[in-house]
Amino acid sequence: MGFFQHFSPDIGIDLGTANTLVYVKGRGIVLNEPSVVAIRHYREKKQILAVGIEAKRMLGRTPQNITAVRPLRDGVIADFEVAEEMIKFFVRRALSGTITFGNPRVVVCVPSQATAVERRAIQESVAIAGARKVYLIEEPMAAAIGAGLPVNEPKGSMIVDIGGGTCEVGVLSLGGIVYASSARSGGDKFDEAIVTYIRKEHKLLIGDSTAENIKKELGSACPPWSNAAAPCSVKGRDMVRGIPKSITITQQEIATALHETLSTIVETIRTAIENIAPELAADIAEQGIVLSGGGALLRNIDTLINQELDVPVAIAEDPLYCVVRGTGQCLENIEHIKGVLTQYM
Ligand SMILES: Nc1ncnc2c1ncn2[C@@H]1O[C@H](COP(=O)(O)OP(=O)(O)OP(=O)(O)O)[C@@H](O)[C@H]1O
Ligand SMILES: [Mg+2]
Repeated sequence: MGFFQHFSPDIGIDLGTANTLVYVKGRGIVLNEPSVVAIRHYREKKQILAVGIEAKRMLGRTPQNITAVRPLRDGVIADFEVAEEMIKFFVRRALSGTITFGNPRVVVCVPSQATAVERRAIQESVAIAGARKVYLIEEPMAAAIGAGLPVNEPKGSMIVDIGGGTCEVGVLSLGGIVYASSARSGGDKFDEAIVTYIRKEHKLLIGDSTAENIKKELGSACPPWSNAAAPCSVKGRDMVRGIPKSITITQQEIATALHETLSTIVETIRTAIENIAPELAADIAEQGIVLSGGGALLRNIDTLINQELDVPVAIAEDPLYCVVRGTGQCLENIEHIKGVLTQYM
């Protein structure tokens, strides 16, 4: 059995709104690319031009007959056809260089709040992309395992995964999800908020990718400003005159722009704490909250949540890898942990 398994390795996929990561059993994380596909429209036909990093570079810069598409929105598939092509491409790339015999078994994560229809869409896309068997794992569970939380103990652990599309809050105990909720508030909303702020306050139009770069370079959830990053220059189009213009923006301004989206995240966590059993809430007050996902890299986000909720907050190691790492750990033990996975076909 072991011999044949080698020819058809099991893989784990973190199919994210912003990034897709693939883990191959026995090899670890082999792929990490933006969830973007560039398509050329030719007569009635669509042709895939680029997938991943290459396609992301084209976002906002495409001529009329080319579109750069993000097939996932709010953590779930918005464009099936394109999502299938993207998954197929990534699976093939992840397995290239490996001798394969038959199709792999795949563990893929789903947002905890995904509907039955949305779950089925993810499963079907992965199956069509060439999986022999598809197992689903709840994203907060995968993130918690990947962050090293003691999910199997009789003790409440809280993970908050802030991705591109959603912020998922999960409370885990005894190997199960005790409470899960999510807000459609993540990195994309931060970017949109920056675009809106700069348009309103500086009368300058910028694209989403520019906003994302500003967020990464200058973004901060709250003071202290004593060690604030230097203001940053931003290029875009002047809304009044229609010509290129450049302005200077400060870290405080970005924090103002992000305030509302951050409040939604804080309130989602507060509601979770209010809705779990007192014993679990006490565990969390003691153990603290762990943050994962790219949003955990926003400066001072841990400080803000700690100030607002008075609970210790820690950022997971390599927050962008938690979900795929958790998925990978499940793969390594697939025979033992079928309980936390939902199987399809
Ligand atoms: N240094 C940083 N500061 C702030 N945000 C960051 C940083 N690095 C990455 N991000 C943001 O993290 C988000 C991507 O995170 P992640 O890869 O966890 O999302 P995802 O898993 O694709 O999305 P989802 O889980 O919602 O489907 C993007 O919005 C990106 O801009
Ligand atoms: Mg994610």
